[in-house]
Amino acid sequence: MLKDSIQNAKSIPELQDLYTATFGKNGTMTAKLKEMKNLEMDARAELNRENSELRELFKNRQTELENAAMMAALANEKLDVSLNAEPENRGTIHPLTQGLHEISAVLESFGYVRYTGPEIEDDWHNFTALNTPEYHPARDMQDTFFLANGNVLRTQTSAIQIRAMEKQGVPIKMFAVGSTYRKEMDATHGPMFGQVEGLYIDKNVTMSDLIGDIRSFFKKFFGLDNVDLRIRPSYFPFTDPSIEVDMKWNGERWLEMMGAGMVHPNVLRNCGIDPNEYQGFAFGFGWDRLVMLKYNLPDLRDLYGNDIRWLKNSGF
Ligand code: DAH
Repeated sequence: MLKDSIQNAKSIPELQDLYTATFGKNGTMTAKLKEMKNLEMDARAELNRENSELRELFKNRQTELENAAMMAALANEKLDVSLNAEPENRGTIHPLTQGLHEISAVLESFGYVRYTGPEIEDDWHNFTALNTPEYHPARDMQDTFFLANGNVLRTQTSAIQIRAMEKQGVPIKMFAVGSTYRKEMDATHGPMFGQVEGLYIDKNVTMSDLIGDIRSFFKKFFGLDNVDLRIRPSYFPFTDPSIEVDMKWNGERWLEMMGAGMVHPNVLRNCGIDPNEYQGFAFGFGWDRLVMLKYNLPDLRDLYGNDIRWLKNSGF
């Protein structure tokens, strides 16, 4: 029977076929309706009722099938959040970058302002202005990478203190963190390593200001209540007097931490500063070395190896 067929139609196309067979141009109801005018009043009323009933049935079944299709589609597209996701490779901050942020935060809290400089340096900034003229034996200590045009891969961030003094003049309190390059390669040295440079020049800056800042820096950077320092005389062409600073590590052994000193009058003069009016200190230490100490990393080469497994497990 037609009513049952409508009710049991399994799909919208099937329902549409039925509709066409009923109400289409050659449909059964269309034929009956055409004959309406020949019918008695009662029969007309009966046909009208049948007409409305069938249309209503078609409409309802259509809605049912559409809803069912919609529910099926939703069920199909449902995201099962309880499923385990594919592991995702999330990036992390590299230990050296983390260290850079921490070193900068401490020095900035003491009023040092960060400067940067080029990694390809000219002879003037890397050596000559730092009181290391061409014949100076200290040039040999640096195992420099020379470029064909006479420039060098900067061997020390000290080059940046020259640039900063040339640019800003005095008084100045600056620091720089950056990569440096020397021809050396073994378990504890790579051809590229990181340095931190500090410089403070004003009218009355003294050696005790230097030692005070170094002590405060280590305390804050390593989170220690107290640090034991050992100051030894040393030599750098650009400082006089020059010192080397050791720090007691874990209460047991002395570690060499940095070079420093009072900036040599020639260096000030080279930057257009009058050494009779201004004086101050500079210091330099290993950026990567400091990160290794703080985070107890055994091998410098891990920092530069970019081994994703190591980076993931380095705890950053
Ligand atoms: N430039 C030195 C080096 O490469 C480190 C250093 C020592 C920097 C003493 C300084 C300083 O500014 O005063 O070993």
